[in-house]
Amino acid sequence: MVPTAERERAGGEKAVLVGVQLPGTSDEEMAESLEELEALARTAGAEPEATVTQKLDAYNPATVLGRGKVEDVNRATRASQADLVIFDNELTVTQQDRLSDALDARVVDRTALILDIFALHAHTGEGKTQVELAQLSYLLPRIRGRGVELSRLGGGIGTRGPGETKLEVDRRRIRRRMHKLEGDLSQMVAVRATQRKRRERAGLPGVCLVGYTNSGKSTLLNRLTGAGVVVEDQLFSTLDSTSRRLDMADGPSIVISDTVGFIRKLPHELVAAFRSTLEVVMDADLLVHVIDASRRETLQDRVRSVEEVLRDLGAEGISRINALNKTDLVERGELDRLLRVYEGSVTISAAGGAGIGSLLLAIGESLAATVLTLRVPAGRGEVLSRLYRDGAVLRTELDGETMMVTVRLPGDAKERYREFMGDGAKTTH
Ligand code: GTP
Repeated sequence: MVPTAERERAGGEKAVLVGVQLPGTSDEEMAESLEELEALARTAGAEPEATVTQKLDAYNPATVLGRGKVEDVNRATRASQADLVIFDNELTVTQQDRLSDALDARVVDRTALILDIFALHAHTGEGKTQVELAQLSYLLPRIRGRGVELSRLGGGIGTRGPGETKLEVDRRRIRRRMHKLEGDLSQMVAVRATQRKRRERAGLPGVCLVGYTNSGKSTLLNRLTGAGVVVEDQLFSTLDSTSRRLDMADGPSIVISDTVGFIRKLPHELVAAFRSTLEVVMDADLLVHVIDASRRETLQDRVRSVEEVLRDLGAEGISRINALNKTDLVERGELDRLLRVYEGSVTISAAGGAGIGSLLLAIGESLAATVLTLRVPAGRGEVLSRLYRDGAVLRTELDGETMMVTVRLPGDAKERYREFMGDGAKTTH
């Protein structure tokens, strides 16, 4: 959530949005990408006044758009008295420079906008550090010579610093600052690793909600646990992951976490910087992919974006349940069609409460399937230490020369212990 005061401070800058439709992008994808850009702009506190689009075979390497269109943007900027032109694609350094010269307003790209929103929404020390690091790595190649004028980087959209840090815009200083932030971050990560170990010792399985931004993850977390997480029809209201304990009626207690929403064209700097926040994803025993089923045209595209980020993170091996959400907005026939495409999905309405029982059941079943009892020869101490590292050891019991180890293992780690699954090793269902 962007606090009102902060939004006011942003000054409600007027903006012109610019998008280019390249071959291979459907009209629906183009429309949704621009709709998303508009939502991003509003979330950052801007007022989109006009949109200029162009169909091109490729981006113009100098100015993205053709020369005539650049003039159209200028006309739109003057007509709406806009202070800001926001491009839906990431600009190269050259494009940024050329466009800044050619246009009468400040030029910002989608990446800068997302970074800006993240800066507003980072609340924990770790979140703020990650955002600042991402901002600096975005900024670094964009700085020419000894530095840029501070005035261009003052408080407006696309130039907001996270928290109180004053941006020192000299390359050498930026590098030094990034180095320091990386150090801080690894310390914070170490602390969290200890906390995680504590949870693992308690043997609680971790379930993580992932999904496209605005798909309903926070609403679902609230529905499941009464966690009181802020739910906003705004992008990226969840930045720092929130974890809650949930005692399931017929199953184990679990730790369930919400994560930052994914979005198409998520800046690489951010995926990299948020790797440590997203560790909660990598550590999970089970992922629940929350899918907004109410927006039919682009559903597949959104699902693909989320899967790409999961792959980037190395989380594709973790068991996953697809939860088709917002079914209160979807007609029965359409839902049946979706269930044929996304076979085995659970249908829910996080807001209305429908299907939540089935989802909990599916979570319980899926988690039970990840608990194994392995037979490890007593002399193989190194296997036991590996198991402690790879999973959560729930119980050990000596049976003659064999150690019976009951362990919860992530899906991708299971394979490595196949030889110990022989006689008597069983999967608990
Ligand atoms: P990010 O923080 O951006 O990642 O969003 P999120 O995935 O956590 O989504 P959130 O829970 O904030 O919900 C986004 C919007 O969808 C809110 O306006 C919710 O009220 C709405 N919403 C969530 N679930 C449902 C549902 O089952 N039905 C309907 N009609 N609306 C829903």
